[in-house]
Amino acid sequence: MAVNGQEEDFWLFGYGSLIWKPPPHFDIRLPGYIEGYVRRFWQVSTRCPPGRVVTLIDLEHWRTLTDHHVSAPERVWGAAYHIPPEHVSEVRDYLDIREINGYSIQYTPFHRSDLTHETLNCLVYIGLPSNPQFLGPQDPDALARHILKSKGPSGENKEYLYMLEEALEGLSSESGDEHISDLARRCKALETKGYAGPGHADGDQPSHSEHLHKVGSTEEQEEVEKV
Ligand code: BEZ
Repeated sequence: MAVNGQEEDFWLFGYGSLIWKPPPHFDIRLPGYIEGYVRRFWQVSTRCPPGRVVTLIDLEHWRTLTDHHVSAPERVWGAAYHIPPEHVSEVRDYLDIREINGYSIQYTPFHRSDLTHETLNCLVYIGLPSNPQFLGPQDPDALARHILKSKGPSGENKEYLYMLEEALEGLSSESGDEHISDLARRCKALETKGYAGPGHADGDQPSHSEHLHKVGSTEEQEEVEKV
């Protein structure tokens, strides 16, 4: 948000669904990265439980944990959005209502990936380990199975994962995140083997797409990313 206390310099960093689902008003979108964090699929969705979404873990804290994915990129890639002054209040309300459940606000330097090398102070939502939705280290195979069988009122958790992987690949040649790609690979391999999708609580039966209901309204579709 504010640089020098000026509201007109409100910058928001997205590392999850915000990468492909921008806030309602913005006039600049910049690919780039922040440092000192690790992105993990360790947050329970509060909007469509029990799905899983990403959060950021402080790098120093993450180093104290036993994670099945033993390495992490030095940079967390995402997109920074500049919110025009006349929309700052509306966008903050939108984010507070729609995004903040379980997440805390932090400010962090954002490095834009173009040639300017400029650093911007960005607001970022982080699900801290102290919040009830934070899960901590997850077995990747169990996590993939959980994602595959989770579905909110408007969509499937796997779509959030697949869209995140695709969105990351679109940011830069170096913006891939192996934690995300590995989970996506596991989910796709399980799907190929006929592992159950939503509608099968045990997840071990072949999926039957006729059990799924179709997403209708834009409002509902927006919830997909929060699954
Ligand atoms: C994100 O896309 O960066 C995000 C969205 C909602 C909560 C936390 C992060």
